[in-house]
Amino acid sequence: MRNIAIFASGTGSNARKIIEYFKQSPEVRVALVVSNKKDAGVLDIAQEHGIPTRIINRQTFYESEEILDVLRIHHIDVVVLAGFLWLVPPYLVRAFPRRMVNIHPALLPRHGGKGMYGIHVHEAVKSAGDSETGITIHFVNEHYDEGDFVFQERCAVDPEDSPSDIARKVLQLEHRYFPEVIAQVVASLPQNA
Ligand code: GAR
Repeated sequence: MRNIAIFASGTGSNARKIIEYFKQSPEVRVALVVSNKKDAGVLDIAQEHGIPTRIINRQTFYESEEILDVLRIHHIDVVVLAGFLWLVPPYLVRAFPRRMVNIHPALLPRHGGKGMYGIHVHEAVKSAGDSETGITIHFVNEHYDEGDFVFQERCAVDPEDSPSDIARKVLQLEHRYFPEVIAQVVASLPQNA
């Protein structure tokens, strides 16, 4: 059994899909949900499914390595960022080399970086006049929205689409693909590591 931790800051619709996808899995368990917001929807979803949760605060996250102990206690193999909006500190990146993935709601390297999250991304796609957008799932490094790509999928942007229309299309792709891409990342871990 491999254990994954989901880090999320918001509504948690991706987290819900991931939790549901692995619910019956004999190979992968969502063993922990971590959030930087104590009222994040994702915490309710985790509790509904009996998954342990942890709330982190900025000072402890950036100035200590306490979260590493938490991840060790829960035997976490892979960390999944599903709408987690804080930059991951170097000590945590180093602890999960090619074992931490993020999803970004655009075709990186377009429309990434600090401040580029949620609707801001779709507004940028709209104002750039892009004819397509999509999702990027990538390994996490020490910079926002960088790191080797694991997967991309695209969708068309129609001229009349508003940023929220674009958001809806992109979220559908996220829900459709993110759980199975996570399953592939977990399946490709070395056997005895
Ligand atoms: C998702 O669209 C995800 O791609 C985005 O936050 C949303 C979270 O939605 N992440 C970023 O923008 C990261 N830069 P959810 O809470 O409903 O899963």
